[in-house]
Amino acid sequence: MSEKELNKARERAAELRCLLEEHNYRYHVLDEPVIADDEFDRLMKELQEIENKYPELQVPDSPTRRVGGKPLSSFDTLEHKVPMLGLDNAFSEEDLCNFDSRVRRLTGKEELDYFCELKMDGLAVSMQYEDGTFSRGSTRGDGYSGEDITANLRTIRQIPLHMSEPLNIEVRGEVYINRLDFEKLNRQREEDGLMIFANPRNAAAGSLRQLDPSLTANRPLKLFVYGLGEHELSLKTQSELLDYLEKLHFPVNPNRQICRGPDAVWQYCLLWWEKRKELPYEIDGIVVKVNELELQQSLGNTARSPRWAIAYKYPPEEKATTVIDIQVKVGRTGAITPVAILEPINLSGTTVQRASMHNEDLIVAKDIRIGDTVMVRKAGEIIPEIIKVIKEKRNGKEKQFQMPVYCPSCGSETVRLSGEAARRCLNPSCPAQLVEKLVHFASRRAMDIDGLGPALAELLFKEGLVKNVGDLYYLTSSQLQELPGVAEKSAVNLLEAIEKSKSNPLRRLLFGLGIRFVGEKASRLLAEHFGTLEKLNKASAEEIMVVDEIGLKIAQAVVSFFKTRETEPVMEKLRNAGVNFSEPQGKEGESALAGKTFVFSGALSEFTRSEAAELVEKAGGKVSSSVSGKTDYLVLGDEPGSKVEKARELGIKIIDEKEFKALLA
Ligand code: IVH
Repeated sequence: MSEKELNKARERAAELRCLLEEHNYRYHVLDEPVIADDEFDRLMKELQEIENKYPELQVPDSPTRRVGGKPLSSFDTLEHKVPMLGLDNAFSEEDLCNFDSRVRRLTGKEELDYFCELKMDGLAVSMQYEDGTFSRGSTRGDGYSGEDITANLRTIRQIPLHMSEPLNIEVRGEVYINRLDFEKLNRQREEDGLMIFANPRNAAAGSLRQLDPSLTANRPLKLFVYGLGEHELSLKTQSELLDYLEKLHFPVNPNRQICRGPDAVWQYCLLWWEKRKELPYEIDGIVVKVNELELQQSLGNTARSPRWAIAYKYPPEEKATTVIDIQVKVGRTGAITPVAILEPINLSGTTVQRASMHNEDLIVAKDIRIGDTVMVRKAGEIIPEIIKVIKEKRNGKEKQFQMPVYCPSCGSETVRLSGEAARRCLNPSCPAQLVEKLVHFASRRAMDIDGLGPALAELLFKEGLVKNVGDLYYLTSSQLQELPGVAEKSAVNLLEAIEKSKSNPLRRLLFGLGIRFVGEKASRLLAEHFGTLEKLNKASAEEIMVVDEIGLKIAQAVVSFFKTRETEPVMEKLRNAGVNFSEPQGKEGESALAGKTFVFSGALSEFTRSEAAELVEKAGGKVSSSVSGKTDYLVLGDEPGSKVEKARELGIKIIDEKEFKALLA
């Protein structure tokens, strides 16, 4: 190849990168494309071809490389040179006035300009640029260091890979997901049998924390930037700063305003409380910042938050809607839960059309009838809840609801056992229960059979391929491929996951069997004590109660499970298929921690972090720096950080130092 040819290619590649970035900006940031999609694709293809032909022209920050990084095994930690602080909250006009008084007192000013921005409900990120090129990006983490999510951020098309000026700056903003995209994502996940996200914020956080950037690339993540970390700019106000970031081609929320004095700020908060419904994304309040950057500097920060800013938080939303119907759902244990079917409404950003009502007593206590107008709120943002009935709206046509006397799935009589709130179907062969049992058996904390979600479980049952968990191990690829919507690849993957599950330790199998009252902890205790399923099977209630922390209720439930006529044939199938029935008795502590991932938050009193990590690893466990779906335990020390919230959201087990030590022992 001649030098001339290479130079020509180099020039064209540079030109194409420029063009592609410009069109990318017009499309993803301005939302004003000037060329058709296929023209864009053509330019991208041309660049890709040049880079393929001349590997020496490849650069890591080419538009062709937005999605390219290899899956990671864990995230590195990146330190924030300027801490990423949180904001103090205001919940009323009075709180805002107090904030203003404090700022005036500290600055000696009579009146101040505040800059008001929408508070995006997403995940804070930091993006570093070196000589104008995007070099590193991270999450907020505990404020002092976060996770290195550079490859994931690069997949967000709104993030400029290059700036028109060779600046060294750190830009900060919020990654979020639009409401409609969120609903679409959840619908797809439901169809795929995956766990749905509780809200757009969790979806954004979960998506950014993927170890495989190609997964992040498929999520509809968006970004608004709102500030800087380390930088070398000399600007006067927050308002100028955002205009400048806009000029640098960053996405900046156009809804922002200078407000003089607390009254104007309050009016702005009220305005957006009304107008927030018109936005395609969720906001949870208004961020109010002292506009002048010099004043911000002089006000400084407390350990947790800047003194120059505050977040006015909107109250949780409540809305009125109608109960169209009350239906019942049969759970894994036969418990029958009433669910209110609601006239769909938009509540804090997502469409709500169902509300669980837990049990019949609750319906009676609140006197909820079909046709009633009710006030609904999202409890902890996840499960919508009926707060009360608006009785004034009744017209006499409302219908009282009766819990079904017969199970809606199998038709057997339902009973309410004394001392229980739930009405139950006691038929062990009830289809609804069996499907739920399959789903539980396959769930992550039980046998962890990836790909076997509610939709597929129902299908397998309906087609008569699987009647109990034992049948799973006799499925064939051709049987699976005959099912509607199951392709060869997913059939192969599922069979692999089923095969892999055979070697799980006994504790997982026990938990997966869904014996009443036997949760994860009891399963572990029983598995460790008895060692094999056979031994547990033969044990009497008294012998089971010898196990520390196992009482009569659990012991009886275990005995009655093994005595039930249906149990033995299932065990037989599992045994013949080669499913492991024993608990590994490794070196001390290993059985408890093998394969478990621990995250620590806050200082422990008896160990340093690295000592704790060493102990975990010695016992066969792993330590990670951040909470994710793969975390098994979050260990809380003194002054834990934000990991707790995250762990709660993900339903991860949170333990204290004492419990941690007990696990190690
Ligand atoms: S400024 C030091 N502006 O709210 C001030 N934050 O609790 C840094 N947020 O972690 C924050 N929209 O993730 C700022 N327009 C906005 C924001 C915003 C959302 C988030 C941010 C931060 C949290 C504060």
